[in-house]
Amino acid sequence: MQKEVVLSGIRPTGFLHLGNYFGAMRNYVRMQNEYNCYFFVADWHSLTTHPDTKELQNSVHRVLAENIACGLDPEKVSLYVQSDVPEIAELYLYINMLAYKGELEKVPTFKDKVRLQPENVNAGLLTYPVLMAADILIHRAVKVPVGKDQEQHLEMARNFAERFNHRYGEVFPQPKAFNFSHDLVKIMSLDGNGKMSKSENQMATIYLSDDDELIRKKIMKAKTDSGPTEDNSQKPDYIENIFTLMSLVSEEDTLKKFEEDYNKCSIRYGDMKKQLAEDMAKFVAPIREKATAIQNDKTYLKKVMSKGAAKARESASATIKIVRESMGIKY
Ligand code: ADP
Ligand code: TRP
Repeated sequence: MQKEVVLSGIRPTGFLHLGNYFGAMRNYVRMQNEYNCYFFVADWHSLTTHPDTKELQNSVHRVLAENIACGLDPEKVSLYVQSDVPEIAELYLYINMLAYKGELEKVPTFKDKVRLQPENVNAGLLTYPVLMAADILIHRAVKVPVGKDQEQHLEMARNFAERFNHRYGEVFPQPKAFNFSHDLVKIMSLDGNGKMSKSENQMATIYLSDDDELIRKKIMKAKTDSGPTEDNSQKPDYIENIFTLMSLVSEEDTLKKFEEDYNKCSIRYGDMKKQLAEDMAKFVAPIREKATAIQNDKTYLKKVMSKGAAKARESASATIKIVRESMGIKY
């Protein structure tokens, strides 16, 4: 049986953090054996908000290196850069003819960005969901692992697919959001304010590129309180988050000990954070070191990118052929 196509894109606009790792990357790694996976760096998308390209090459290399260091195997998945696949731009052009100005203007992420960069409301920003639909439909992907904030874009991709099929014939399946894991974790910010995120407080976000010392410093600063006053009481969410992090990187016995201490009101958060800091540093170090080594190995990165592009273009050109035929672009 043919494996289902899974696809996701990552914009090269920031460093990967623990939220990305436990909420997304770790699942991508688990998917790679069961599905036909396409993962790519969305460099064209980043131009809608980051027109300055001085750091672009470096960022693209880093995203690739971090993804491989987290366990994505370029031999198993198609790992490529969006701009290496010109077929995506062609499909983007066709879908643009099916997308209405009115519906694009209503997208909440567009409105947010207009507010954030009123001096640069470019057409690329408006048609961001069209490009994203082209990314997905070019491989006729059905499963798209993305966070909640991307659900509306996915719904638009489904609408565009349906509109295309209705007008030109059945070409595209309907892409759906995909949560591979049942135990979806959300990592909260260490200051207790919302989720860990690259756009929030940097000192409350642990990046995969942070060194041991910085990891220790951030964890020791994590928000706690004076401890529970009643046995077996419920944990406030910022305390729950410390336990979640411990459950992800520490030994089972370690976690159990602190759970018991908590339930007996004898917990010492200083000790717990010290232990967590050590275990977290031990967890992150090999990923960081591997990512740095890969990022410095430009020959290897070039090989990964050209292999990924070849795999992606094979699938993309097959789709474009069908698209052109069904549209009557065959002279
Ligand atoms: P950020 O919020 O840092 O900009 P993105 O929105 O680019 O991160 O998210 C990339 C992926 O990582 C998405 O699949 C998203 O659901 C996941 N993710 C991001 N932050 C967290 C978090 N704090 N906890 C769990 N998953 C997260
Ligand atoms: N828009 C996504 C984000 O900001 C990135 C992305 C671009 C994407 N193209 C995609 C995600 C296709 C999934 C599928 O995170």
